[in-house]
Amino acid sequence: MSNPDLDRWNARFDVPDHVFGEAPNSFLARHAAGLSPGRALCVADGEGRNGVWLAQQGWDVLSLDFSAVAQQKAAALAARRGVALTLEQGDVHGWPYPAAAFDLVADIFSQFSPPAERARKWAGLRRTLRPGGHLIVEGYTPRQLVHRTGGPSAAENLYTEPMLRDAFGGLEILVLHEREEVLDEGAGHSGMSALIGLVARKPD
Ligand SMILES: C[S@@+](CC[C@H](N)C(=O)[O-])C[C@H]1O[C@@H](n2cnc3c(N)ncnc32)[C@H](O)[C@@H]1O
Repeated sequence: MSNPDLDRWNARFDVPDHVFGEAPNSFLARHAAGLSPGRALCVADGEGRNGVWLAQQGWDVLSLDFSAVAQQKAAALAARRGVALTLEQGDVHGWPYPAAAFDLVADIFSQFSPPAERARKWAGLRRTLRPGGHLIVEGYTPRQLVHRTGGPSAAENLYTEPMLRDAFGGLEILVLHEREEVLDEGAGHSGMSALIGLVARKPD
């Protein structure tokens, strides 16, 4: 059965360059750098810039995305960097998220999810974290609708501090802040941006 969202993402990724660059998301790199490597899940990892960087830091990474075109580019990037990356093609809204399976879950710019699907996805992220494991989320706030330098145009898909605090209140919230910053993460995320980042730890 055809999936217009998937067709749109595959077409977007069907270009020689990495749409979101080859360097990792800066918030993820800053906050994952101090963690001890273990098993990591990169949700909607696309062309693999984040999963590949984590693999370079010693993490055993599962890179989940529904776009085969993006995953071919992720595999090529991993090969160029000489690291192993496990790719799984799947829909983040229906993925089983096995319980207590990952030491790190990275959810970077997956703001395609409308509220009901986002709630299911985030319930999966909470479930699949191991006790003591960390969750790192980066996204845009509603102020991004002023900048329009990347991200969704649907206001309901954007994140706020109360939304993240409410969704991940069962975790220990280590970092949660909104900021305005110039992003230079490929043509897809470029320019002054209204961002929000969360780092949280699942209690032991
Ligand atoms: C804005 S890109 C971010 C990619 C990556 N996280 C990064 O920071 O470079 C969003 C990604 O979500 C993927 N995606 C969109 N809807 C999805 C879904 N329902 N299931 C799995 N992946 C999805 C797209 O293929 C794309 O790779």
